[in-house]
Amino acid sequence: MPVLDLFKLDGRVALVTGGNRGIGRAIAQALAEAGASIAVTSRDGARADKAATEIAESTGQKCLGLTLDVRDGRSVEAAIGRVMSRLGGLDILVNNAGINIRESITDLDDESWHDIIETNLAGAMRCSRIAARHMKEKGWGRIINIGSILSFIGIPQRAAYASSKAGLMGMTRAMALDLAPYGVTVNALCPGVFKTEINRPILNDPDYLKEFLKQIPLGAMGDPAQLMGAVVFLASEASSYVTGAALLVDGGWTVK
Ligand SMILES: NC(=O)c1ccc[n+]([C@@H]2O[C@H](COP(=O)([O-])OP(=O)(O)OC[C@H]3O[C@@H](n4cnc5c(N)ncnc54)[C@H](OP(=O)(O)O)[C@@H]3O)[C@@H](O)[C@H]2O)c1
Repeated sequence: MPVLDLFKLDGRVALVTGGNRGIGRAIAQALAEAGASIAVTSRDGARADKAATEIAESTGQKCLGLTLDVRDGRSVEAAIGRVMSRLGGLDILVNNAGINIRESITDLDDESWHDIIETNLAGAMRCSRIAARHMKEKGWGRIINIGSILSFIGIPQRAAYASSKAGLMGMTRAMALDLAPYGVTVNALCPGVFKTEINRPILNDPDYLKEFLKQIPLGAMGDPAQLMGAVVFLASEASSYVTGAALLVDGGWTVK
């Protein structure tokens, strides 16, 4: 097969949790451009519908907008049920939904800890366990967990977030072993610092931003479009021999 054909996603169905904006939106756009039907989500159904319509218009693919709160098991079940019934299957799951609350350990309260772990880590587990059942049955699947450089290193005021993303990396490795016999791969895509809503506090503070930029050998924050190639690789046949791995897209932050 010509090598570029390995990246094609024609006939595949993908769900990108929280794919209505930011990194998830670029990921959904990439998967649709590569040929997949996609579902994007938001806790606000209208926001998901709007993103789905825009992606459908620009790619010509089937795109579904769904209401989803990954902290709620029933919401996860309903959303995946809708993907199956409306798009006819589920081949690729991108666990992208995530939040960050920046607090030093001495100020970190139970509510923030709980919210971050429930969204970033337990949410990915809830989506994966249902999606993986379908993928196992089909004998093909891709689960891509959106980790972070904080899956591997620390930054001040990130105890809860770093715990969730390091946990997600551990879960990626263990799930990869559970699913390897069934043709399902599980990998983590680990971004550095990207220009999205979640980083508004950094983008709005010139001194904080300057400190961050000093950490990035390539000298700039990432644009979500710079994750598009990496996600298509992990979602496609091109990565058929890659599982349990982390693909860092961080402008070199973690090299030092
Ligand atoms: N930006 C970065 O520098 C960076 C770096 C490393 C990793 N990441 C990770 O990349 C992912 C996307 O972040 P982003 O930068 O694109 O931030 P963002 O623009 O704030 O997007 C976060 C997405 O998560 C969704 N979400 C939040 N809580 C949810 C919940 N309980 N249930 C379902 N969906 C929920 C949001 O949807 P609604 O609010 O519409 O429901 C939104 O679409 C996150 O996992 C983040 O940790 C980001």
